[in-house]
Amino acid sequence: MTDFVPPPGTAYEDLETPRLVIDLAAMEYNIETLHRFFRGRPARVRSVTKGHKCPAIAQRQMTVDGAVPFGLCCAKVSEAEVMVAAGARHIRMIEQVVGKAKVERLMRLARNAHIIALVDDPRHVADLADAAQAHYLTLDVLVEVEIGLNRTGLVPGPEAMKLVRSIEKDNRLRFAGLSSHEGSMVITDPEVREEKVRARIQRLLDCREDVERAGVGVEICGAGSSTTWNIAGAMDGITEIDPGTYVFWDHAFVESMPDQPFRTALKVLTTVISRAAPDRAVVDCGYKAMGRAGDGGMPAADREGVTVNRLNSEHGILDLEGEGRTLRIGDKVALTPRAFGPTVVAHDHYVGVRNGVVESVWPISARASHQ
Ligand SMILES: Cc1ncc(COP(=O)(O)O)c(C=O)c1O
Repeated sequence: MTDFVPPPGTAYEDLETPRLVIDLAAMEYNIETLHRFFRGRPARVRSVTKGHKCPAIAQRQMTVDGAVPFGLCCAKVSEAEVMVAAGARHIRMIEQVVGKAKVERLMRLARNAHIIALVDDPRHVADLADAAQAHYLTLDVLVEVEIGLNRTGLVPGPEAMKLVRSIEKDNRLRFAGLSSHEGSMVITDPEVREEKVRARIQRLLDCREDVERAGVGVEICGAGSSTTWNIAGAMDGITEIDPGTYVFWDHAFVESMPDQPFRTALKVLTTVISRAAPDRAVVDCGYKAMGRAGDGGMPAADREGVTVNRLNSEHGILDLEGEGRTLRIGDKVALTPRAFGPTVVAHDHYVGVRNGVVESVWPISARASHQ
């Protein structure tokens, strides 16, 4: 590995670039803001680690008041392995685990931590039950309910009920409840957003009622993301929410949902390497270090009069106007990702900065945990 890691005490301005930087105060504010809402409420927060992929951050999220204590949500088995090694005790999978090798890994993990698997098909149930039996354990299972995202999950109804019953009857598994992902629901008007989110979550709650009316207990009823947390998390019957993006917040959401209280906490610090034209600067960070946002949008620059025109593989091309034209070779420009997921996986470490000085350096241990 050739990644030079700056020691704590290094000045922000002296960081070698491109460098992935966390504004620690903003990250802590985001965690505190979301979790505070859940203190004194029945629902709890079980944070999703697939975005930040970092045990040091997960440790903060699972131990703060308002969290499921030592509880996290993971998308991938390999990600869950990293988080269990970092001290997580209760992992809820938010993606179906499929394939002999992965199911085997999940069972090995279930010997060391409380694992809650996710299913939406009898095939998932059969494979998990066989594997649980081979490992002499009883595995907790949630049924995923589709409430409007049109992705995974069964629509509420007879098929979902049949799956619930099949888990209930199988003594190798324990039916732990229901979960749904309503999606980001990027709706600018907070009132319209609330109405639409409530309508989706209600489908899950109705399904919960049906299951309970059939005499089956529902311990976990999970939904709610970083953009719907305060709506889903305040609805009676939701026992936990699983947000991820709130920790760093995406620049795309700053524009589309200005009422949300979160601050962007992640940026890539870059250096101007060329000023070959008056209205153009080039920085040392292209899409390899920045990642590409799913919608193709550009990151935001932290300087007046500076916009990112495009990213080549190693170069970022900036358009300059007004104040922006004073940029000189060697100046630093911080770029905030539009959607931070692809940015994170381009780096080995986070550098945490407070008051202009490096305070911590955290490995992104699950950065390549795609399996
Ligand atoms: C199933 C599930 N739960 C939770 C989340 C977290 O959503 P967000 O990052 O918007 O908080 C995601 C993100 O894609 C997801 O797929």
